[in-house]
Amino acid sequence: MTALQLTLAIIKPHVIKNPFSLEAIRNIIVSSNFKVVKSKRKHITPDEAEMFYEEHMHKFFYNRLITFMTSGPSDVYILAKENAIKDWRTLMGPTKVYKAQFEARESIRGKYGFTDTRNATHGSDSPETAKREIGIFFPEFDYEGWFKTEEPKFHHNLKLDKMNFVHVTDNR
Ligand code: CDP
Ligand code: MG
Repeated sequence: MTALQLTLAIIKPHVIKNPFSLEAIRNIIVSSNFKVVKSKRKHITPDEAEMFYEEHMHKFFYNRLITFMTSGPSDVYILAKENAIKDWRTLMGPTKVYKAQFEARESIRGKYGFTDTRNATHGSDSPETAKREIGIFFPEFDYEGWFKTEEPKFHHNLKLDKMNFVHVTDNR
């Protein structure tokens, strides 16, 4: 049994405003065999957005990025899969939407992105960033503990709680 990896996904505010796009992206997640470990609808605060996008502080797009990410509720998920980080980023497609539309028309950003900023989704880019990003939005989540006690349960007998968009194990 190969170990699962965790990644942090965000469905950005413009998608949450369109229930059909949100449903389509949720279907892509489940049919691509990701397990939804945690799920929350959250209006990201300026403090959280600034911490989250710290590495981009000096970029020209930083202000518009923070303004957009705090403009309305987002969905924030912890996703599990064998190669969760790479697979989720592949499904999302390139960061820049015009590039996504040109090179990966069927990707999530190719289909549901509007602009370079409103590019539909976020995905962690390494195990270290995944851990850091999960800590920002799920401070109560026991990251190390999950791999010890929860990970084995996520290989079988999972049910999708559609209402809360989260996979539940039998004994929860
Ligand atoms: O999200 P990803 O890791 O693919 O890209 P990034 O380079 O880490 O940029 C973070 C976010 O900044 C992107 O997802 C876009 O929302 C935003 N961005 C932007 O507004 N304008 C750009 N030219 C590049 C990125
Ligand atoms: Mg990034």
